[in-house]
Amino acid sequence: MSVRQDTIFQQFLVPLFENVLVDPEALKQFKHSINWEEESTRLTNPRLTYPDYYHSQNFHGIKGGYLNSEAPVSYDPITQYVLPPAEPIVRQGLIDRIRVKPRRILDLGCGTGSTTLRLKQAFPEAEVIGVDLSPYMLVVAELKAKKAGLKIQFHHANAEETGFPDASFDLVSASLLFHETPPDVAQTITQESFRLLQAGGEMIVLDGNQQTLRQTEWLTEIFEEPYIKAYAAASLNAWMTQAGFAQVQTDDWWWVHQISQGIKPIVKNTSTSTRSQTQVSYNKPEIDSSAGRPAPA
Ligand SMILES: C[S@@+](CC[C@H](N)C(=O)[O-])C[C@H]1O[C@@H](n2cnc3c(N)ncnc32)[C@H](O)[C@@H]1O
Repeated sequence: MSVRQDTIFQQFLVPLFENVLVDPEALKQFKHSINWEEESTRLTNPRLTYPDYYHSQNFHGIKGGYLNSEAPVSYDPITQYVLPPAEPIVRQGLIDRIRVKPRRILDLGCGTGSTTLRLKQAFPEAEVIGVDLSPYMLVVAELKAKKAGLKIQFHHANAEETGFPDASFDLVSASLLFHETPPDVAQTITQESFRLLQAGGEMIVLDGNQQTLRQTEWLTEIFEEPYIKAYAAASLNAWMTQAGFAQVQTDDWWWVHQISQGIKPIVKNTSTSTRSQTQVSYNKPEIDSSAGRPAPA
């Protein structure tokens, strides 16, 4: 599949990145500093089958999407410029909104690990695992964690079907994943997150602001993002509610981003003399009342 040349990214931003913002020599050096064949093979799960939506499309104007070394080499240098007002602020918004005190965290579609590393820094006692479909992205994630001295596990897995046991995490996160999946896949990932969480656990998602994207079409045309229009037309709140989450909310974050979160309710069976009732409640002791709530701009 050829790369679309009509996107704002290809027409205006690629020349800007190539000539001004990104140092091509540094990228080349980084690319040649890694034995991609060896490292990606080491991280590849041979039992994994790539879903059609993933390997049949280009993402961000990169031929073959994430299944090559070009994707992780350029991802961080470019991403730092495309998350207004600034990448650290945007990612920290997810961390600051976490309401639980997690002991086991799963970061879905972790990519090069930029949010995964922040999760480990915010919750150093927690076991943190990142999963991604691209072994190439995982190579860079692992390298970044090692450089930062952070113990994080990275697995080559599909977020739709991770293979982890039921109720084995108390926080599941995803940043910038859902706008890159067709809506039915996003729904499956949301259901998988619900399955993976203990009662009282939290799902939190940082991604493009669906309302803003619906109202501002050019934003969906910037990059070659095959599923972004379908993502914009849908509702993360609805996906999470349908999956069974309670206390679901989506907050605007700097106009172009949103942070969605929900809690897996605790279902209690209470028997009375006449009938059995089911009550839904929430795991209050683990909620961190000091979690920051910065106001969107
Ligand atoms: C835009 S990147 C986001 C990476 C990272 N979370 C971040 O915030 O920078 C999207 C990532 O999702 C991964 N991805 C897409 N579909 C996936 C799936 N079904 N399971 C796991 N990873 C997936 C891609 O390989 C890519 O690394």
